[in-house]
Amino acid sequence: MTASVFVTREIPDEGLKMLRRDKHLKIEIYEGDKLIPRRELLRRVKGKNVILSMLTEKIDREVMDAAGPSLKMIANYAVGFDNIDLKEAAKRKLVITNATHPNVSETVAEHAVALIFALAHRIVEADHFTRAGKYKGWEPQLLLGTDVMGKTLGLIGGGAIGGMVARRMHEGFGVKIIYTDVKRNPAFEKMSGAKLRTKEQLLGESDFVSLHVPLLPSTKHLIDDKALNLMKKTGFLINTARGSVVDSAALVRALKKGKIAGAGIDVFEGEPQFARKKSDADYLQHAWNVILTPHTASATIETRQAMSRTAAENILAFVKGKTPQNVIK
Ligand code: GLV
Ligand code: GLV
Repeated sequence: MTASVFVTREIPDEGLKMLRRDKHLKIEIYEGDKLIPRRELLRRVKGKNVILSMLTEKIDREVMDAAGPSLKMIANYAVGFDNIDLKEAAKRKLVITNATHPNVSETVAEHAVALIFALAHRIVEADHFTRAGKYKGWEPQLLLGTDVMGKTLGLIGGGAIGGMVARRMHEGFGVKIIYTDVKRNPAFEKMSGAKLRTKEQLLGESDFVSLHVPLLPSTKHLIDDKALNLMKKTGFLINTARGSVVDSAALVRALKKGKIAGAGIDVFEGEPQFARKKSDADYLQHAWNVILTPHTASATIETRQAMSRTAAENILAFVKGKTPQNVIK
């Protein structure tokens, strides 16, 4: 079939080239590599068959209505899909795909590992200290951190990304792995020697807690005051999943009271703000035991190209009447 595709933002080029090579596709991209204003989005999707969207666009009923009955597919350029109203999409029988690719999972896992080590070795703080000209000579107790080897890593979510973090940390650094999930994952256990725990047990036993669940009604504020109270005072929280999995107000309360040792945060509640409340965002911005990255866990050239190809493959399969690889149900 012939199909028109609206791409909401310029993405790395490999997938776009694949789409452009298909003579049956008409590709339109929002120009200028900037966030598309809502009104512009509503205008530009009209009459399109496919929307290739970013996680920064809320694809809700209003957008689906604006596109009209021609809309058949939404190909999200992200692993997460919480920006899409799946109920509305189901009503219209839209095909929704994400951009899951082994490369993406590997990259996000690497980023989680990087945050673990950066927190344990106080890398960011040490870098600032050194650049500020504060280094006056070796000291036996300067910027003491904590070892990672021999510690316990608790993974909340035993899916693809969690599994890759587990394997790396277990094989590479002799870290003990525990995990919690709605169901057991024997492959995950075999790969990393991981042991299943309840969420409460996991929080109490872990030196590092890393989140690898999608944002769903059931995972919103999974980490709240109660959860943070169960963590060790020496424990670190790492979030490369979605901001709202953590109650940001509770996180700031726990950090202020020293209930946990620190946090590595790539995704925020109220993004691009660092927290729901401005005062909490300000606190996080200045806390030295917190490392902040701007939702860049998957931001490597290899992975962003792989996501581009994956989004394109999903669209190409769909327009050829096949079932795309990454359909969200
Ligand atoms: C990034 O957060 C993604 O879901 O791909
Ligand atoms: C540190 O540089 C050491 O030699 O112990």
